[in-house]
This record gives sequence, structure tokens and C-alpha cells, in this order.
Amino acid sequence: MEEKYNSNYPDIDYLRAKAKKRIPRFAFEYLDGGCNAEVNLRRNTEEIREILLKPYYLRDYQGISLKTNLFGKEYAAPFGISPIGLQGMIWPKAPEILAKAAFEHNIPYILSTVSTADIETIGEISQGNAWFQLYHPKEADLRDKLIQRAADAEYPVLVILSDVPTFGYRSKEIINGLSIPPRMSLNNILQIMGRPRWAMETLMAGPPEFKTLKPYIPKGLNLKHLGMFMNQTFSGRLNEERIKPIRDKWKGKLVIKGVASEEDVQKAVDLGLDGVIVSNHGGRQLDHGESTIKPLQEIAPKFKDQITVMMDSGIRTGPDIASTLASGAEFAFLGRSFMYGVAALGKEGGTHTISILKRQFRQVMEQLCCETVADLPKHKI
Ligand SMILES: Cc1cc2nc3c(=O)[nH]c(=O)nc-3n(C[C@H](O)[C@H](O)[C@H](O)COP(=O)(O)O)c2cc1C
Repeated sequence: MEEKYNSNYPDIDYLRAKAKKRIPRFAFEYLDGGCNAEVNLRRNTEEIREILLKPYYLRDYQGISLKTNLFGKEYAAPFGISPIGLQGMIWPKAPEILAKAAFEHNIPYILSTVSTADIETIGEISQGNAWFQLYHPKEADLRDKLIQRAADAEYPVLVILSDVPTFGYRSKEIINGLSIPPRMSLNNILQIMGRPRWAMETLMAGPPEFKTLKPYIPKGLNLKHLGMFMNQTFSGRLNEERIKPIRDKWKGKLVIKGVASEEDVQKAVDLGLDGVIVSNHGGRQLDHGESTIKPLQEIAPKFKDQITVMMDSGIRTGPDIASTLASGAEFAFLGRSFMYGVAALGKEGGTHTISILKRQFRQVMEQLCCETVADLPKHKI
């Protein structure tokens, strides 16, 4: 895939700044914010950057490869796109834009249960390459329907989410009315009027909806009742009894996202799961928890022969990806970074963000004299 690259936005910080100017404040704060005092949001990125990498300058060098095998498939790079809810509110058609870019660049895109495109549409765009993230429904019947739809659309990987047993406490979302239940205040409407491009594109795309869940949502609910419906329908709290039937039903690879302790990873191994994404939801759930890079360094060496260990939360650059892999993750995922890209540049945003990260990551590999992604742990000081 040819890399389209916009030199006005050479890194994720530039995309973030542009996104802030281009979308309504409530949408930007939803994407950008963490929970409580946003301690863990900052800590995630800061502590990845404490990892030190060692270069070798006087070695023979045969060139590098970014190719990475994961669950029997060869991806073009060792990073993918984390699931984000309500993506189409941040930028219209964001899930479709990102799924297309991911497919064209041969990296994984994970669709959230509460995103704004449905399982089937994303399955088609990604030609059976997207992964599906399941929010845990209280009713087994709804759970089974969603799992069956993901299987019918040939998703190879199902991701179950463990780190939302309760909704995060996010002050900006409470003010903006984006807590559950959501609310459209006069203030939000004024913000929309200040972002005409976003408003026009949203008007053309139609209001964002929970498309995957639409068949199960009673018709004609106002926003308040929709919020109540979502609260009643989902319980994020997982336990072994809830995971076992999913393992029995899902024939593809099964991954749990949101674990951050050795005890939980051991349970995932015991339950026969194929992978874990060490994640703290990008600092949106528990403000005084560890950054993900910290437990990763204990979890990866202990469990790497038993389960595939991946990580997200706080990754913004190629060097961040390199430090994550050097710390033992086999694969890295990024959430906000890709959405900043789409919010800043629309259709071009997915491809451009992938190009930035690939360029930056390749440069680190060359600088270190590291020929394969699997060799990165040898460069951790
Ligand atoms: C606005 C927003 C919405 C999110 N929605 C979901 C979701 O629906 N499902 C999910 O598994 N994770 C969700 N996450 C967490 C991401 O998948 C991912 O773990 C996190 O963004 C990684 O951190 P980063 O943004 O620092 O890369 C969300 C994150 C953000 C920022």
C-alpha cells in the first residue's frame, strides 16, 4: 500500500491540535479526556517514555521488516486500532474510514459494540479482517446474537472487555451531557454551530447511532431513555462464569482487553483464551492505577509462552510502539491517536495516521539496528 503522507501534520500532536479546532468541544473532550483528575491518562504516556532503548551502530545490517505474525496472520506492522465507542459523533463515518485504512494497510481494526457502524458493514469493508469488541450484555440471548453476527461476518478475533465494571467518572462528560444518559444542551448546540464543516458532514451522514445495536433498541426512544436502555442492557462486569460460555461458542481467537494484573492474566490462561490486551482504557476508568507499561513488564515474560500478550493505553508515537514491544508486548494498539487523525483530516486521516506511525517506527528500528520486530526486547536497557 502506497503511503499517503501530509507533511503539515508530521505527528499525532499536530493531528490532535487540528482535531481540537475542527470538532465541537463536547466531542473533543469525549475523545481526549480521562477520568477524574486525568492522572492515569498522563501517566500512561509518561511511563512508556521512561523505557530506554539501546542502539548498535557498528553491526552488520540486512535491512528491517515491520511484518508481524499474530494469530496465524501476517500483518504489515505491529500495531492496530483500538475500539472506540461513538466514533461517528467525533467525526462522521469514522469507523468506516478507519476500517478501510486498516484493511488497505493490513493492520487490525477493532470495532466496538457501541460504535456507530454495524458488524456487517465493517465486516464487508475490511473483508473479514476486522476484530469485534463485545460489551457484555446482561442477557445471554443478546450476547449470543452479537457473537453469531460477528462469526457470520467472518471476524477472526473476538475481544471481550473487562475494565468497565462501572462507568468512569469523567467531569467534562458530565458537564457536556455525554454521561449516560446523554443530553443535548443549548451549550452543545452552540458548539456545533462553531464547527460548520463537522455540522455539514454530520448532517450528510445522518445523526450517529449505535448501528450494531439498532435492531434491539426499541423504536422512538429519546436520548434519556436510550441511555437508560443501554444501562439496563449491558453489564460490563465479567467473571469466569460469564467468560466460559463465550469461549464455548466462539470458534475464532478470543482475546480479553483491559486486564492489568498477573492474577487476571492467569485466569485468562486458565479459561483457554488466546490473547490479552494489557490496557487501562486509556486512563478513562481508574485514575490511580498503574500505567500499562508497568504491569506489562511483569506479565509479558511470565505468560508469553502461554498466551499472546498485547498492550494499549498511552501510545502516541513510533518510539512509544518500539518501547511497548521492547517491554514484551507482541503487538501494540492505539485508540485516541487514530481518532485525532480522522477528526483532523476526515477521510485522509486513517491512512495518514498509519503512515506517520510506520515512518516513525521504522526510523527507530533502523536507528537501533533492529531487523525484526521480535528482536526489539534485545534493545531494552
Ligand atoms: C473516547 C473513547 C471511547 C472508547 N470506547 C471504547 C469502547 O467502546 N470499547 C473498548 O473496548 N474500549 C474503548 N475505549 C478504550 C480504547 O479501546 C483504548 O483502550 C484506549 O483508547 C487506549 O488508550 P490511548 O487512547 O491512549 O491509545 C475508548 C477510549 C476512548 C478514548
